[in-house]
Amino acid sequence: MSDEIPMDRHMYRLTCVNCGETYQPDEIIYTCRKCGHLLTVDYDLDSLVINCEIWEDRPLSVWRYRELLPVTIPPITLQEGGTPLYHLERLGREIGLPHLYAKHEGMNPSGSFKDRGMTVGVSMALQLGKTTVACASTGNTSASLAAYAAKAGIPAVVLLPAGKVALGKVAQALMHGAKVISIRGNFDRALEMVQELCISHGLYLLNSINPFRLEGQKTIGFEALDQLGLVPDRFVLPVGNAGNISAVYKGLRELLALGYIDRLPMMTGIQAEGSSPVVRAIRAGLPEVIPETKPETVATAIRIGAPVNAEKALTAIRSTGGTAESVTDGEILAMQRDLARKEGIGVEPASAASVAGVKKLVEAGIIDPSERIVCVVTGHLLKDPETVIKQCEPPVEIDADLQSLLSALHYY
Ligand code: F0G
Repeated sequence: MSDEIPMDRHMYRLTCVNCGETYQPDEIIYTCRKCGHLLTVDYDLDSLVINCEIWEDRPLSVWRYRELLPVTIPPITLQEGGTPLYHLERLGREIGLPHLYAKHEGMNPSGSFKDRGMTVGVSMALQLGKTTVACASTGNTSASLAAYAAKAGIPAVVLLPAGKVALGKVAQALMHGAKVISIRGNFDRALEMVQELCISHGLYLLNSINPFRLEGQKTIGFEALDQLGLVPDRFVLPVGNAGNISAVYKGLRELLALGYIDRLPMMTGIQAEGSSPVVRAIRAGLPEVIPETKPETVATAIRIGAPVNAEKALTAIRSTGGTAESVTDGEILAMQRDLARKEGIGVEPASAASVAGVKKLVEAGIIDPSERIVCVVTGHLLKDPETVIKQCEPPVEIDADLQSLLSALHYY
């Protein structure tokens, strides 16, 4: 195509995933002007000079992989990434999977994987000359954006669905100094509103519709491969707006194109039963998702009826022979407790969905016991203390004497 945008000095451009239209990397654009579909950051992989050995010499972090990221200025960083990959020995034995792992993204600076996206996204805001950032959020995106905007020294505006955001996340957004607006509507409506606001008033939109943000998130996959030392058979992620599963898939495809890996893992998405448009589309073989108007789940992080990245996620799942499954709120909370009590891993409900989904898929005979599986557990237990407290017995309060202590412990 003669009017194709040439790769600029950073060796990338924006490309529409539907019609292939290309855009300059410094254009402020979130969807294709021709057809309205999603954009992706498209690198000239043939010209990129990357030496895997350099990566090995750098600490495990988002910026280890900087040659495959779009940022050319010194990044706004809070030292994100480098999260632990745990072998779930006890739970794996119970479920019947000797090779089950969890990548604990709750160990990021603000307690979720969003920090990987925001270190890149807020850096890109500055690189593109933008001075105010904004997002809609079920909570974690707002907490992360608020922290990275604070680090960058620029204002942030966040829109939350009123009454449906876990306490820890609201606390973070407020404390980091974002302008926090609660709307009387759900996340899907908040996202529509913030998109309109950003387009009409020039704020920089940092929801996962922004293709640069997903670039940071793809490093979850890079790190997990580096930690395992091989390509797992399957990646399992909780799905809300469907950005993260799309991001990990995109990154792994780049490694495949570069010849660093020779196959792709089966990308598998898990949703909450009351909020599962991607699962229904996969089951029914639909070309696109049918949005749910009243999504509901205890896992408020993934309480999303109209996932904006569904188009990318369906491709990720289908082209790798993966699948999508839904889990009930009861299954999510049971797995949250199991991870906490049997593995010492504290996650929020949405994160437990990935492991709960794996258990269900093993029981259904869809996952083979010999598979090597990486579950991404996306956010920390402390994000949603109210849901934790509701599940646990309260502390036993006693008089301040030894006899009371011994009898409370049943030591006679
Ligand atoms: N897990 C957690 C803890 C999340 O906060 C989210 C999304 C997801 C999973 C799903 O990721 O949207 O890329 O499919 N949270 C967003 C937010 C929507 O606003 O914090 P996804």
